[in-house]
Amino acid sequence: MTDAPRKILVTSALPYANGSIHLGHMLEHIQTDIWVRFQKMRGEHCIYVCADDAHGTAIMLKAEEQGLTPEEQIARVQAEHEQDFAAFLIRYDHYHSTHSPENRALSEQIYLANRDAGHILEKEITQLYDPVKGMFLADRFVRGTCPKCGAADQYGDNCEVCGATYTPGELVDPYSTLTRATPVEKPTTQLFFDLPKFEAMLRDWLASDALQPSVANKLREWVDAGLQPWDISREAPYFGFEIPGWPGKYFYVWMDAPVGYMASFRHYCDRTGENFDDYWKADSDAELHHFIGKDIVNFHGLFWPAMLEGAGLRKPTALHVHGFVTVNGAKMSKSRGTFIKASTYLKHLDPQYLRYYFAAKLGKGVDDFDLNLEDFVQRVNADLVGKVVNIASRTGNFVHKFGGTLPATLDNAELVQSVQQAATGIAALYETREFGKAMREIMLLADQANEYIQARAPWKLAKEDGREAEVLAVCATALNVFRLLALYLKPVLPTLAEKAEAFLKVEPLRWQDADRLLGEHAIDRFSALLNRVDMAQVDAMLADSKDTSGEAQTATETAPTKQSKPKKKQAAPAGNDEPISIDDFSKVKLRVARIVKAAHVEGADKLLQLTLDIGHGDTRNVFAGIKAKYAPEDIEGRLTVMVANLAPRKMKFGLSEGMVLAAGPGGSEIFLLSPDSGAEPGMEVR
Ligand code: MSP
Ligand code: ZN
Repeated sequence: MTDAPRKILVTSALPYANGSIHLGHMLEHIQTDIWVRFQKMRGEHCIYVCADDAHGTAIMLKAEEQGLTPEEQIARVQAEHEQDFAAFLIRYDHYHSTHSPENRALSEQIYLANRDAGHILEKEITQLYDPVKGMFLADRFVRGTCPKCGAADQYGDNCEVCGATYTPGELVDPYSTLTRATPVEKPTTQLFFDLPKFEAMLRDWLASDALQPSVANKLREWVDAGLQPWDISREAPYFGFEIPGWPGKYFYVWMDAPVGYMASFRHYCDRTGENFDDYWKADSDAELHHFIGKDIVNFHGLFWPAMLEGAGLRKPTALHVHGFVTVNGAKMSKSRGTFIKASTYLKHLDPQYLRYYFAAKLGKGVDDFDLNLEDFVQRVNADLVGKVVNIASRTGNFVHKFGGTLPATLDNAELVQSVQQAATGIAALYETREFGKAMREIMLLADQANEYIQARAPWKLAKEDGREAEVLAVCATALNVFRLLALYLKPVLPTLAEKAEAFLKVEPLRWQDADRLLGEHAIDRFSALLNRVDMAQVDAMLADSKDTSGEAQTATETAPTKQSKPKKKQAAPAGNDEPISIDDFSKVKLRVARIVKAAHVEGADKLLQLTLDIGHGDTRNVFAGIKAKYAPEDIEGRLTVMVANLAPRKMKFGLSEGMVLAAGPGGSEIFLLSPDSGAEPGMEVR
């Protein structure tokens, strides 16, 4: 009896359309793709959709910074994303955008259904507003002094020094990180989704088996702490969808982002005739699986099921949450070259290596994932080349030497049979996302096959007269095992599997083909299926990942004309300097300054943010590209020299009001200038 195929809709989280795909994203999409390919090989009716998450302030500002319209920006990024995913062999049934007509229609539909059911509240609140930029400020665009401990320059919602949480309105001396202007409080009417109404439903959902236990526990803590209405509206200017009936107000990006899953599927349905409602109606018998990272569980585990329920739709069957990728034990870092973009990886390495390494170390848990690059090289070579491909390369050629056709008779039928019998267990491991255990199981089978080949040594037999049939029976045994291993690995290594299919001259392998063997069967000549990885390729990838994009090429980040880094480390000969007049020089006002505070700049690998005391009670904010050399605590309190009358320059990270002077070519070879002791902040330097 064969059961009707399961109907399974699967998603990966929608990457933001303001940055490149990196290996952290790839973990998620590879994990999802392996699971989807497995389901498809099993003959389930499985559909995999994704999209770019195109809305929000960050994307709007990014487009502005690049001199593009948001539409241009998101189109460019989406093309890049799709290319990267395709190259990593991620096979979506459809890849869409949240900035699409389908998403607008569905977001409105879900909002209106919730509104009509009484789940939307209107509330007048005050929000911080940047009068220079003319826009309301999200928490992360406000900084200021912590109201609890007085630490300067803290985020709008929490203090990194004492850990206090607060609202941006409570900050002392708040400023907008966009313009440095002091924000003003302005009343606005916002729309809230009435989340507390859904508490009982959410408690049931958290008790169901839709979530990994640790995720359910985390979310239960949130519910226990008391659910709050969720602000789903944002004021213009905002890149998103205007809320029906509220001109000038937009859906918050996290309101329409998960609806993007539906929108992508809607588009797929329109293209293929698949029935949309079958998958989304409240009593749907289809499965809905979301693969996401641990940073976004509240959106998927609380808001999303509540919004769906509120609109009379089904809830997800399961969330599959993974941890974060670290490289060599540390957070991915641009300066260490371990912030590896998908496209950079692809310039140096075969995507299947990473697919295998991720699979080999993934379980169903939420633990972070360390990409240890030495281990990566070693694992891929030892397992894929040394074990799996080896089976074919040690036997394939003899078949051709003796006619090119495998006999039906096996030299060791029990071995082949035991590999066949492993199919059920391996399938169960794939189904439960225990990919690491599945890979170990498969490699144990490969070990057995290699031991067998080693013991039977077809290369010796082939030299003896009259033992051709025996050689062929050994090869048939080995290659039947190889076929089964290629089948078991196919969700992870689709290209290797395709090459194996071509070599063995078989139709695309499906899971149930594990029940069958090759029988008497002509095969092709053996040719390389996968190359070894070399540590040198990995090193080249790391070198290529080192950030040279010039956030701060010289010490003096704020210099109006940036000099490019000299090729050689030696100082340029002074005789080559172009003369200027004394008048030119006297235009430059240099002053002694004290570095009263130095701080790391989020998202900048080369910059420190300096607060300079320039005397007379005046301070200046300056960004300096000196991080490779100096830790903030090394230079706090120290005197230096600054250009005091440089026109303020708006940078990505804020306004820079001058520059500090330093010698040297840059990077870690940089030497901050200081006056002799006795000098005072504010003294003019001449
Ligand atoms: N746009 C939202 C998701 C909306 S889903 C309706 C978003 N985008 S993201 O680009 O920041 O992240 C996309 C996915 O990548 C998330 O699941 C996130 O957890 C995952 N990862 C981002 N960096 C990661 C690592 N370093 N490691 C593993 N996954 C990571 O959030
Ligand atoms: Zn504090």
